[in-house]
Amino acid sequence: MLSVTDVAGRPACIESYDPAMATAFPDGFLWGTATAAHQTEGSNWNNDWWVWEHASDTLVEEPSGDATDHYWRYPSDLDLLVELGFGAYRFSLEWSRIEPEEGEWSSAQLDHYARMIDACHDRGLQPVVTFHHFTTPRWAAADGGWANPVTAERFARFCAHAGARLGERIAMACTINEPNIVPLMGYLMGMFPPGRNDDLDGYVKATATLVDAHRRAYGALKAGPGDFPVGMTLSMSDWGADPGHEDKVQEYRSRHEDLYLEAARGDDFFGVQAYSRTRVGESGVVGPEPGVPVLPMGYEYWPSAAEAAIRHAIEVTGAPVYVTENGIGTDDDEQRVRYLRESLTGVGRTIADGLDVRGYFHWSLMDNFEWAFGYRMRFGIVGVDRTTQQRTVKPSARWLSQVIASNTLDD
Ligand code: GCO
Repeated sequence: MLSVTDVAGRPACIESYDPAMATAFPDGFLWGTATAAHQTEGSNWNNDWWVWEHASDTLVEEPSGDATDHYWRYPSDLDLLVELGFGAYRFSLEWSRIEPEEGEWSSAQLDHYARMIDACHDRGLQPVVTFHHFTTPRWAAADGGWANPVTAERFARFCAHAGARLGERIAMACTINEPNIVPLMGYLMGMFPPGRNDDLDGYVKATATLVDAHRRAYGALKAGPGDFPVGMTLSMSDWGADPGHEDKVQEYRSRHEDLYLEAARGDDFFGVQAYSRTRVGESGVVGPEPGVPVLPMGYEYWPSAAEAAIRHAIEVTGAPVYVTENGIGTDDDEQRVRYLRESLTGVGRTIADGLDVRGYFHWSLMDNFEWAFGYRMRFGIVGVDRTTQQRTVKPSARWLSQVIASNTLDD
């Protein structure tokens, strides 16, 4: 394993960081929010999720519909980010819009994303572009989806095509969002398309294809125009065990995290996404520990998740880290502020320890379509009226805005 000191090219902001100021963030620390196309754009009818939302036997609580109409409202949403002082915006390209049928490319949709990227630059926001965030075009899903190894080549071809048009103006690229969640939810838990339960064969195949797709996408994007860092983002946890079952942690973590972390060695950065803790016991993953508050998502209120995940990601990959997602689904905005404060304190501790952590992207800018949970889970620092689409800035957004303005937690 590499240690953090092996990482070449640490930016001056990390070197100049004063560990005595445990709540201050380094100069140049990148503050952003994150969203995904299918969760916000609306009318993404040409992907596997839309099909899944409308299937008769689906577990999805409600269809995505118009989502937050971000496809059309992105200019005013980006204005909000500027007003709040953010320096970056992470969003995803919808593959099914850009390649609606195999080999048929839509210039108009690429123009749309080019305009979005330009709109970020015009406002001083760095565009961080995710190439796959859970949704796959209908035609690719119908041909076996991620369980078909050919999907890796198809995805890399999409990255090459989109990168050729957009690469010059991209600030950072995330290849695949949480490649560990897609096979888990899609082939073992029946929560994501293709909706399989306990399909171990599909799970193993999809995992292999996604790892291959990441490596191919990395190569395709690096070979194209522009010179931007490329990395993977992963769903990570703090890990715990029922007493006496500590040995199980490594077994689970290696399957859920290390396999991907190892595949990402040598990438330009690693995207850590962490929300809670995963506990293991005699029978595998066990639920929340009695006494620990449980969130509407069903997992523990556990704000040290980001800190633990950063430490583990750097230990295994040796790559610089961005927290590309962290947040809380709650209707209690004061709880959101508490979570954020505790979480960011943990991020600050990793920096104070000399770890190369370069930015924090809050999930999410706005309340949006939380996959199988529909719109019931609210992760946004901006609220969205489901009838009028009107945006309302929550107090947590103002709180985070002050942290960003002072680049410190001492507000
Ligand atoms: C994920 C995704 C996001 C979620 C977020 C909150 O981790 O599932 O990247 O799409 O909305 O994590 O659950």
